[in-house]
Amino acid sequence: MMSERNPMPFGRKVSRRQMLATGSFAAGGLLIAGDKLHAQQPLAATSACDDHEPTVAETEGPYFKPHSPHRADLRTAGIGGRPVELSGLVLTRSCRPVHRALVDLWHADDKGVYDNKGFGLRGHVFTDADGRYAFHTILPGLYPGRTRHYHIKAQAPGEAVLTTQFYFPNEERNRNDGLFRRELVMRVGTAQDFLQARFDIVLDLA
Ligand SMILES: [Fe+2]
Repeated sequence: MMSERNPMPFGRKVSRRQMLATGSFAAGGLLIAGDKLHAQQPLAATSACDDHEPTVAETEGPYFKPHSPHRADLRTAGIGGRPVELSGLVLTRSCRPVHRALVDLWHADDKGVYDNKGFGLRGHVFTDADGRYAFHTILPGLYPGRTRHYHIKAQAPGEAVLTTQFYFPNEERNRNDGLFRRELVMRVGTAQDFLQARFDIVLDLA
């Protein structure tokens, strides 16, 4: 295994100007997708979480690459595998939605292989005014030593980066993966011909 440390940290501050340059205010497809998802699966009332625990941090792993493409749909040409809509909210500990939070997703393909040469199955989005993010991607395959997972980084503008991983429920390997955390299991349901995975990220902000 390669080092867990990344020589080009993701943690550079993302300025408002940089976000404008990457088109975060024009992510119409993301907003539409998010609206559709949330119409099907209403969000829990946020008033119930006045003092939420921040989402648990996890190792970045050896396959993170900075400067992923700004895109909500990671299913580029030639990508197989079961479609997944991964969505959720980015919230503060007091359950305030974080607008323009950066959410970066990278994961293995359906055969358990990462694209380390290009940016296959890598991308980032920015949350909308309600703190929502959404990706269209696939179910990642398994690779030796790990259970099924997504890698995630999330960052409110100008704040520290949270690096973590999301897990799938009812996976046999969850029991034997030393990195697996129950708190990081997504809610996963089936919608038509794709899986619908939900995870609300809580950043360590007031
Ligand atoms: Fe991984």
